Amino acid sequence: MATIVLKRTGHRMPLVGLGLWKIPNNECAGIVYSAIKAGVRLLDGAGDYGNEKEAGEGVQRALREGLVRRDELFITSKLWNTFHSHDNAKAAAKLQLKHWGIDYFDLYLIHFPISLKYVDPEERYPPGWFGEDEKVHLHQVSYQETWRAMEELVDEGLVKNIGMSNVAGALLLDVLQYARVQPQVVQVELHPYLTQNALVRLTRVLGIALTAYSSFGPQGYYELGFEGVTSLLEQSAVVKAAEAHHRTPSQVVLRWATQRGIAVIPKSNDVKRIRDNLGCNSFDLTEDELEDIGRLNADLRMNNPTDLDPRLGIFA
Ligand SMILES: NC(=O)c1ccc[n+]([C@@H]2O[C@H](COP(=O)([O-])OP(=O)(O)OC[C@H]3O[C@@H](n4cnc5c(N)ncnc54)[C@H](OP(=O)(O)O)[C@@H]3O)[C@@H](O)[C@H]2O)c1
Repeated sequence: MATIVLKRTGHRMPLVGLGLWKIPNNECAGIVYSAIKAGVRLLDGAGDYGNEKEAGEGVQRALREGLVRRDELFITSKLWNTFHSHDNAKAAAKLQLKHWGIDYFDLYLIHFPISLKYVDPEERYPPGWFGEDEKVHLHQVSYQETWRAMEELVDEGLVKNIGMSNVAGALLLDVLQYARVQPQVVQVELHPYLTQNALVRLTRVLGIALTAYSSFGPQGYYELGFEGVTSLLEQSAVVKAAEAHHRTPSQVVLRWATQRGIAVIPKSNDVKRIRDNLGCNSFDLTEDELEDIGRLNADLRMNNPTDLDPRLGIFA
């Protein structure tokens, strides 16, 4: 299995994993179990996805049946916005580990560089973006304070690697000024409609691994009611390459990222598709095909918190 070696620890992060956002609770344990059986080794979860207990059940079953050992899995989770203060961040990570039924995360990311008012998990979990009044409540905590908590989680052995999500270059460079434990992974939205070439170059120069989320662009947002943008899987540059290599359009879109060393975490509820996605590294695109697909860039961002509240302009 193709992997990326993470700089500080030398741990190997699989180049292809399974994203857990929007996997329904009642199917999640079964899908995670079947995905592991099909060969998936990286699971990308988050407190916000609300299915970590079920994902953990799938993992526990796979471990119990001896399909894998814990150290053969790479489990990622993310710290939600309402838990950014030092003590809340540490407590949230511990609660999430309990939900999964494991004693460490391979990778723990700060989900967004946005701090929201604390919500007691006993009252509401996952807390989401809005308060009971359906408004966003900001809370003043610096990224540096949250990062310090992340580093202590590493010290305590509760997380092996730490990283950042939904960030641009400026924040990454700032964290490097004070980090005692450097970020090993940056996870951002990245697909042929949002190629993020500058961030790809920066992370490469810094030796920080990059994970693309929403690799299929609008595809994962159609199920949330989004419409109006042509599916990447129907774009002629993608379809042509798929025909030329006897692969599926989805494999071509994933390979466009992995061939350049960018990890992908496609989500699917369908084990056949999960297998198909996992097989995306079985061929190489030509340089011309990589470029043709990259030319689809339209700086189209599907996941932007400013759509929820204009104060959340993290990509402005
Ligand atoms: N850090 C962050 O803030 C952040 C934000 C968004 C996402 N993520 C992570 O990234 C993961 C992936 O992103 P995503 O969920 O937005 O979307 P995605 O993986 O780009 O796309 C998922 C969509 O594509 C479909 N699909 C999957 N495999 C397919 C195939 N082989 N052929 C045709 N259609 C296929 C799925 O449908 P079916 O399920 O019906 O197969 C689903 O509708 C998430 O699950 C999450 O773990 C992280």
